[in-house]
Amino acid sequence: KQHIQVAIDGPASAGKSTVAKLVAKKFGYVYCDTGAMYRSVTLKAMHEKIDLTDETKIVAMLKQTKIAFTPGDPVQHVFVDDIEVTDDIRQPEITNSVSTVAKLAGVRHELVNRQREIADVGNIVMDGRDIGTAVLPNAQVKIYLIASVSERAERRYKENISKGINTPLEQLKKEIEIRDQKDSTRKVSPLTKAQDAIEVDTTSMSIDQVVEKITKIINERI
Ligand code: C5P
Repeated sequence: KQHIQVAIDGPASAGKSTVAKLVAKKFGYVYCDTGAMYRSVTLKAMHEKIDLTDETKIVAMLKQTKIAFTPGDPVQHVFVDDIEVTDDIRQPEITNSVSTVAKLAGVRHELVNRQREIADVGNIVMDGRDIGTAVLPNAQVKIYLIASVSERAERRYKENISKGINTPLEQLKKEIEIRDQKDSTRKVSPLTKAQDAIEVDTTSMSIDQVVEKITKIINERI
């Protein structure tokens, strides 16, 4: 029997990982946060002081890099070469540099291969930017999660405050817009809604409502 694949894509801070994780838990599927993989590569490259546009060097580094996840509540734990980086990869320096690394074709090629290997193991909920369009084009369920920029900036602001990060709301809004622009205009698998994806606008929805809506969509399709 074919594994069930749920692809959740959308712009920055639309709540993808929060919702994807809850949906995965509800159905007993594996959850894969692909953004955390791009963030991990960015973190290690910056740590090793590699120029973030140097594709050859970054790809060579990535080939020697282990990226692993372990379950956790409320967020899963992320490890790079067995060192925990769960909080480090969410720092503003990483968030604002990750799109530069994510546009490198060689990086995408390597990470997409790893993502498909993870999906080969069983039923999965995977979130990112290109899951429905490139990583898992045959996914039975494709969701495109959106929300207004103000709403997304406010959510990110609250999340940041709880982590002791104090970026002003207006600046967050600008950063989100810049990141979406970069992710949507890159050459290799840019952020775009798959033609067979169902768009869910979460602007005025609670997390529970979004989970409920996606649950219904999955149940209709499996
Ligand atoms: O989802 P998250 O905001 O953590 O993703 C961080 C960045 O990683 C995105 O802004 C994008 O540049 C990149 N990304 C990507 N493709 C994915 C997931 C994330 O290019 N599938």
